[in-house]
Amino acid sequence: MRAIVIARPGGPEVLELRDVPTPTPSRGEVRIRVHATAVNRADLLQRQGRYAAPPDAPQDIPGLEYAGVVDALGEGVTEVVKGDRVFGIVGGGSYAEYLVAHARTVVKIPEGMPFVEAAAVPEAFITAYDAMVTQGALTTGETVLISAVGSGVGTAATQIARALGARVIGSARTESKLERARALGMDDGIVPDGGKFAERVLELTEKRGVDVVVELVGGAYVSENMGCIAKRGRIVVVGLVGGARADIDLAALLHKRATIIGTVLRARPLEEKIAVSTTFARHVVPLLDARACKPVVDRVLALAEAGAAHSYVADNQGFGKVVLTA
Ligand SMILES: NC(=O)c1ccc[n+]([C@@H]2O[C@H](COP(=O)([O-])OP(=O)(O)OC[C@H]3O[C@@H](n4cnc5c(N)ncnc54)[C@H](OP(=O)(O)O)[C@@H]3O)[C@@H](O)[C@H]2O)c1
Repeated sequence: MRAIVIARPGGPEVLELRDVPTPTPSRGEVRIRVHATAVNRADLLQRQGRYAAPPDAPQDIPGLEYAGVVDALGEGVTEVVKGDRVFGIVGGGSYAEYLVAHARTVVKIPEGMPFVEAAAVPEAFITAYDAMVTQGALTTGETVLISAVGSGVGTAATQIARALGARVIGSARTESKLERARALGMDDGIVPDGGKFAERVLELTEKRGVDVVVELVGGAYVSENMGCIAKRGRIVVVGLVGGARADIDLAALLHKRATIIGTVLRARPLEEKIAVSTTFARHVVPLLDARACKPVVDRVLALAEAGAAHSYVADNQGFGKVVLTA
């Protein structure tokens, strides 16, 4: 099969399209003919040699999500049949024509959804639902603050929150991304002023603050979150594009009885990946099916153009997901 291989740690030019052996499914696994995959920040870090794949994933083929067709079954698989249109997350290896995945992490694509749209779903929607609802416990009538609201995860979180009946405040560094997020259901948008946004969030919430923060930027944004989290609020730190260090007001943490939660998907053991995939199938796929949420595809490139796709993502120009067709 053809796959994108990280030839050596480095820039986008180290991504090479090569012929590699087609994987074979073991017991409990399925092989999927990948029709489309999508780019994640983790892929960029892996390419630079800063984020190794978990031991059970291909080490040199990046890619954390896929949409495709079940092509072969390992022994004992009963969850899907050959020919099923499926999507899901993997620990690596989706920048390829074929991959293997555990059958219980594989989810059926809503009818009528094209592969290029389906590939924009798994990482963004699974991460968003897991962080904001499963861990952050966002409920109807509450308010959520979503940073980098125009990111893949941000656009998914906005739509899920809206579908749950929560109020959404989003932040982005450009007004144009806020404008596009409003079209997805965001209620209020903020362009942080020199990285500051807590005061503005308090104004928008009559000084009450927000119940949940989906923190996709990290760094100094976490200090600002402490200034605008409501009593018993939950700050879920999902991304660190803005840095891995923050100066946190612990007195505010105590007095507000707030919680700070950190999360990653990729490093979780198989049983937890099965659990998030099952939750996704139960709670998010029906929203996609009913068109209450939709995949946000910024652009579609061929697998061979993976390097260009990485450069585009690194430039922070996109809104939603960058998809690669295999
Ligand atoms: N924990 C997990 O399991 C998990 C899973 C998936 C993703 N993530 C993380 O979640 C975040 C979002 O992922 P994604 O793939 O959806 O991202 P994405 O689509 O690539 O978008 C990221 C956005 O972050 C903003 N940004 C970049 N650098 C920034 C900075 N220094 N300060 C403020 N904003 C900055 C940019 O938007 P603006 O130009 O509007 O600011 C950019 O478009 C990333 O940090 C990613 O690593 C974590």
